[in-house]
Amino acid sequence: MIKCVYPGSFDPVTSGHLDIIRRAAAMFDDVTVAVLVNKNKKPAFSVEQRMDFISRSTADLPGVHVDCFSGLLVDYMKNKNANLVIRGLRAISDFEYEYQMAAMNAKLAKNVETIFLMTDINHSFLSSSMVKELVYHGGDITGLVPDAIKDDVINKYRR
Ligand code: PNS
Repeated sequence: MIKCVYPGSFDPVTSGHLDIIRRAAAMFDDVTVAVLVNKNKKPAFSVEQRMDFISRSTADLPGVHVDCFSGLLVDYMKNKNANLVIRGLRAISDFEYEYQMAAMNAKLAKNVETIFLMTDINHSFLSSSMVKELVYHGGDITGLVPDAIKDDVINKYRR
């Protein structure tokens, strides 16, 4: 069985992320969505909230698990006994960073392979930062985040 890991900040998970998770789950039996715990960054949502958002958004997807990790992704992969990393590519602008990261991970761990899924064209402009900015300024985020978490994301900024 191929175990794969879809790592990210997911602050919060967007419809673009969910599209990648769905497509990965259609291809692989075991997909772990791994939320980065980054002590140097102040996320808008706690790691518990981010994990809960992903769990609720993927409740209908068998084989999808939610977890968190800190430190190097390759170390986490080794612990999980997984060697496939999934990442989404939105636009050419993502490529340089993703290429560097995939190359570094491959150098650090010979058995770790990264595969990229092209983000659905409807979500090619979408990012977690964009969602937060929209909500902050009162914009409509319908369809941009999974329906299951939309109200929680809005409530964070509009109390
Ligand atoms: O959603 P993001 O912020 O683009 O995800 C980036 C993530 C979490 C995949 C990346 O920052 C990561 O893997 N961080 C852990 C540290 C690491 O292993 N970095 C890559 C080699 S230096």
